[in-house]
Amino acid sequence: MYFAVITILPEMFDAITNYGITGRAVAQGQVTIDCINPRDHTTDNYRRIDERPYGGGPGMVMMVEPLVKAIEDARSRASAHGCRLGAQFCPVVYLSPQGEQLSESVVLSFSDYDGVILLCGRYEGIDERLLANYVDAEVSIGDYVLTGGELPAMVMMDSIIRRLPNVMGDALSAEQDSFVDGLLDCPHYTKPTLFAGMAVPEVLLSGHHANIEKWRFVQKVKRTQQRRPDLWQRFEPTAQQQKWLQQMQKSATK
Ligand code: ADE
Repeated sequence: MYFAVITILPEMFDAITNYGITGRAVAQGQVTIDCINPRDHTTDNYRRIDERPYGGGPGMVMMVEPLVKAIEDARSRASAHGCRLGAQFCPVVYLSPQGEQLSESVVLSFSDYDGVILLCGRYEGIDERLLANYVDAEVSIGDYVLTGGELPAMVMMDSIIRRLPNVMGDALSAEQDSFVDGLLDCPHYTKPTLFAGMAVPEVLLSGHHANIEKWRFVQKVKRTQQRRPDLWQRFEPTAQQQKWLQQMQKSATK
């Protein structure tokens, strides 16, 4: 999958390009991350990319022209990389607190694209006319404000990359995480079997795979009910999960 990131702080992206599972995906060629600095698309001596806002007020606003050139550069690189262009193949995404909130289902929908062009804002924001004419989607990572779109762009890329085929060492692990089936994750244990007076739950040592699967489901349900009632309300169980839920109810009323 191809990513172009438009940012005035390209060095920040070393974190995702050079380390961990995302770094390995880059090294193995499953993912390409190109950073494009809008300052390289300025024509003045100061390499200026921002100006004071019309109407006054604090802060600076990123100007249209260097960003248009950066997006055009990103599109031509994406195309050279084999991406089909357009919103349905390689959308331009602006990271901002005003966007649609990122969720695992949004992540999964992005993992189907040939590529994504991520636009990172700094300062007070970006001239609205750039957003109106060049941006296909606006994404927020939560209801809080960061100093720029770089960290959100990395959050978004990391969450997409781990859902790509063959990126995670164990193919099942991305599918069994929190949110993928609409529930929070269950607790996990490893050696030693006893720590701080707490033993590993016996069922996990039993080798009985069906019982383990059911136990994990029950744990996920209990956690989700307790911690995220909003998720629990929206949960749609499979036929097997429906059976387990009925068994849970029976044993709770005994
Ligand atoms: N830029 C600043 N804050 C942000 C947020 N919460 N999500 C996405 N982009 C942002």
